[in-house]
Amino acid sequence: MTDPQLVLTERVRLALADAFGAEFADADPLIRPSQFADFQANVAMSLARRLPDRPKPRDVAQAIADRLGDFPGTVEVSGPGFLNITLSDAWIAEQAAQMFDDPRAGVPTTAPAATVVIDYSAPNAAKEMHVGHLRTTIVGDALARVHEHLGNRVVRQNHLGDWGTPFGMLIEHLLDIGEPAAVAQLEAGEGTEFYQAARQKFEADETFKRRARERVTTLQSGDADTLRLWHVFMNATIRYFNKIYAMLGVTLTDADIAGESMYNDMLAKTCADLEASGVAVLSEGALCVFPPGFTGSDDKPLPLIIRKSDGGYGYATTDLAAIRYRVHDLKADRILYVVGNDQALHFQMVFAAARMAGWLPDSVSAEHIQIGMMLGKDGRRFKTRSGESVKLSDLLDEAIDRARAAIADRGYDDAAREEIARAVGIGAVKYADLSVGHDSEYVFDFDRMLTLTGNTGPYMQYAQARIRSIFRRGGVDPASVTGPIVIGEAAERALALQLLGFPAVVERVGEAAEPHRLCAFLFDTATAFTTFFENCPVVKEGVPADTRASRLALCALTLRVLETGLNLLGVPVPDRM
Ligand code: ARG
Repeated sequence: MTDPQLVLTERVRLALADAFGAEFADADPLIRPSQFADFQANVAMSLARRLPDRPKPRDVAQAIADRLGDFPGTVEVSGPGFLNITLSDAWIAEQAAQMFDDPRAGVPTTAPAATVVIDYSAPNAAKEMHVGHLRTTIVGDALARVHEHLGNRVVRQNHLGDWGTPFGMLIEHLLDIGEPAAVAQLEAGEGTEFYQAARQKFEADETFKRRARERVTTLQSGDADTLRLWHVFMNATIRYFNKIYAMLGVTLTDADIAGESMYNDMLAKTCADLEASGVAVLSEGALCVFPPGFTGSDDKPLPLIIRKSDGGYGYATTDLAAIRYRVHDLKADRILYVVGNDQALHFQMVFAAARMAGWLPDSVSAEHIQIGMMLGKDGRRFKTRSGESVKLSDLLDEAIDRARAAIADRGYDDAAREEIARAVGIGAVKYADLSVGHDSEYVFDFDRMLTLTGNTGPYMQYAQARIRSIFRRGGVDPASVTGPIVIGEAAERALALQLLGFPAVVERVGEAAEPHRLCAFLFDTATAFTTFFENCPVVKEGVPADTRASRLALCALTLRVLETGLNLLGVPVPDRM
């Protein structure tokens, strides 16, 4: 364990139990970064209120300080009862050295490994994959990478919207325009246009409407010809999704597709089982679950409809079948649903219904990782000027074009420029998505995400490329650096202390499913590195050999942390910029 905050939590807890009795060992020492020392512990105030003789918080703080024992630093009581804690340089250097020697840079592997099912991306095939799915894809992929790095068994589930009544008219439209034309259009990402054309005919043309309705029935009855047409449609659509995933460098593959259609055969049984167990009841002809605690605006219990009065199944039915499959067949310990926050009520009700049915035991957690809406610069839902939803491949192309223009004058040959432009453009879009809390709205702004200053993708990529260039200039291979790390200058100390927080951040990102914490950490690391680099020459003439060796080790460790962190986020890491 290298994380100073965790080490101090442990130490202070032991000291307070020693001072006041084991019954207080549960008190959170409240270790926080401090502006007066490395950290402060704020526990004395709350602990004083819990103690029977109501001592002064300052005395409580002093008693803890006195019992810290062979503590690797200094402790001071200040103000009403803060413990200001400064770690010793030797301890910091030693911890940094341990981290440096560990190929995992201190990041532990979870034991025993948990099975984490991650439901993410999940675009709808009946429509164009739109920007809303960009965030679910990017955030979900970062979570998958982090959990895999933590040694968990990750099962990706791409819950595509690939089934339902619209497929009747989509298939009929496909027949009208001919398979080759339809396939070409879908592969090109013009699913929205395709859908709109089908919809228009459906509304204007009675014969088409009748054909579409009949087609839904034949599709649902499993008619072989209709299924073949459905596959033609889906395969072309999936080829477009895969093009986007490849552009984004997302780890999803065809093996991860578990669309709505996959659950089709389970829906009747899902309803029958819920009805038999009394979890679902008939209400006005529809089969519904009424999970306790959910009421509508009229104070009446809110139904989760699992079979409509016309016999049709819905989105909730599929999700109940999916939970059952994920728990029973995939053996999930944890299921993460990376989906827009407008579906919060749906998931709360589905989870509650699944618990009522006994399909989601208390030992399994189901979590809706809510994704905030993507806004345009005007503060409204992100759209093109003419009001259509933005095509994702165009958006990514534009990011790459802008990045190419930004690096045009840096003297790279065409091939290198192209590679860097891709890394920077895609990295900017992904990092912008990841660096804000996943549940907050965020304004999509090319200018801001592509700037080289602040908490942006290009800044982070630049920070690691700059360290690589130090090694190139010094003619040193980062892999050959051995240290030892010694702490001299304040900036060396601050950088080393910062780096020690990496393992805990990665664990925390996994636990809380919050990639933005990793972005914030990497940004602070890059900032600490900048201060270090401005104050501490590394490969300059005249730097003593041991100082140079230590600083090279700090550079190498920073590089490893930045590179690992960016990889975990799925942000490309160019060698040069
Ligand atoms: N296809 C859905 C949408 O675009 C998202 C599916 C999310 N996953 C789920 N299990 N419901 O809104």
